[in-house]
Amino acid sequence: MPEKKSAVVTSALPYANGEIHLGHIASTYLPADIFTRYSRLNGREIYHICASDDFGTPILIKAEKENKTPAEYVQYWNRRDHDDFAALGISFDLFYKTSSKENVEFVQEVFQKLAKNGHIYDQSIIQFYCTYDDKFLPDRYVIGKCPNCGAENQYSDLCEKCGRVPDQILEPKCAICGRPPVKRESKHYFFRLSSFGQKLKDWLNSNVHLQSDVRNYVVNWIDEGLQDWDITRDLSWGVPIPLPEAKGKVLYGWFDNHLCYISTLKKLISEKGGDGKKFWNDSEILHFIGKDIVYHHYLFLPAMRLGIDSEYKLPDYIPTRGHLMLQNQKISKSRNWYIGLRDFVSSFNPDYLRFYIASVITYSQDDLNFDFDAFSEKINNELIANVGNFVNRALSFTQKTFSGAVPEPAGQASDVQTETASVVAESGDLLARNEIDRALKRILKYSNFMNQYFQANAPWANKDTAPTTIYVSVNSARSMAILLEPFIPFSCEKIWSQLNLPGSIHKQSWESAVERAVKPGHQLGKVEPIFRKIEAKEIAEWKEKLGKK
Ligand code: MF3
Ligand code: ZN
Repeated sequence: MPEKKSAVVTSALPYANGEIHLGHIASTYLPADIFTRYSRLNGREIYHICASDDFGTPILIKAEKENKTPAEYVQYWNRRDHDDFAALGISFDLFYKTSSKENVEFVQEVFQKLAKNGHIYDQSIIQFYCTYDDKFLPDRYVIGKCPNCGAENQYSDLCEKCGRVPDQILEPKCAICGRPPVKRESKHYFFRLSSFGQKLKDWLNSNVHLQSDVRNYVVNWIDEGLQDWDITRDLSWGVPIPLPEAKGKVLYGWFDNHLCYISTLKKLISEKGGDGKKFWNDSEILHFIGKDIVYHHYLFLPAMRLGIDSEYKLPDYIPTRGHLMLQNQKISKSRNWYIGLRDFVSSFNPDYLRFYIASVITYSQDDLNFDFDAFSEKINNELIANVGNFVNRALSFTQKTFSGAVPEPAGQASDVQTETASVVAESGDLLARNEIDRALKRILKYSNFMNQYFQANAPWANKDTAPTTIYVSVNSARSMAILLEPFIPFSCEKIWSQLNLPGSIHKQSWESAVERAVKPGHQLGKVEPIFRKIEAKEIAEWKEKLGKK
């Protein structure tokens, strides 16, 4: 068999200034984790990379408010995010940070190469400056009235309704002290994004793996004309611009953050004794993102890589998914219409969240909905009543009737064999194409088939065929543990240990799920129910909490 191509999976880097919530999980981290877990089982060398996104004005402002140094502040969120992801079984190979020494050095190197290649120029611009705080006031440091719609208290880089132009915001105020700022001149560096239009179009059109609806609207943006990017911030927190005349200036967060995909992979590979750059260029590259950061990943990121002569290859895939709604409403932290990951997995089995979200994430920009009633129905009626029921029935029966030893079969049950081969091939094919919800459906159909098989063969009433039914069913339970590992890894560990099989469930081979590897005479482990039903009361409590402060 030909060697499978190695792969690097990245998940968009979470800003180090707030907790991970269900929205992040659905659009990005869970699909990336499921894809990675499947690929590992499928024998691919694959690494899932992530990091905290440590720089940027909002982070600096929050750190100042909490009287912490920005470094202390982001360190807290880096750990916290790492731990929250781990509790959900998001299995990064490395979760690092954009403020790492490795990233800072790499970003400076890229800046210098871009400058050398003529893709960066400087220009003086007028900016707000607070003489009281002695600071330039970029982005969120200025609050005022929007000149277009008149909305009060808008940030100078973002009016919720209509847009930007900090130069024109009315009644500007310093976000730190509330005093009106003055205008001062400052030298800024710009990235010539505008000169990459044609090259980007060629790349977008030649990359057959990109989702075509996203490609189409990105090409439209290019046709409307690209603007050069101001990549300078007059701040102390960021990657210092590596030029003697740029003292006190740092690079914009969107210049450095995506380069951390590369610097983090290089760190990981060098720790394994390999060559990170070679690994990157020999691998398939997949950047998982939510649709709010399409602009950055389809234009800015590839343009920067093109600007350094594609020394690091451009992405092969940019799986882009929609937003998560909560009970059909937009997630909003300020209205408390929001569910923190930590809170959720402290009351529900993390696999329940994984299962529910996996069953609704289409491979598209469409928004998804988290609905509490649908959640409890899915878990109770599909995960528990279908998968849990089958596995538990098969194993308990073995326990009771055969003292936990797998019986010698008298026949083949070739219909089951055919169905097993087909679910392994079809669901694997769907997972390889990122069709996660469809892959899960296919596996549930298999589980349903097995329930019917068990029921129809009624081993409790048919002494002669019972050994075959049980032998076949125990083996199907093993197949299901492997097929479901990418989706519900914690529960599959339990099934594996009840089956009393050697090794780790996370290290099995996908293909081996077609085999009947549990041999007659094999002794099962301790058998008990794998899942606990969700009670109506728990759901009612959660609904009650939502939207309350
Ligand atoms: N922190 C950014 C956000 O949450 C995402 C950064 S992804 C990166 O929108 F690739 F650019 F780092
Ligand atoms: Zn001020």
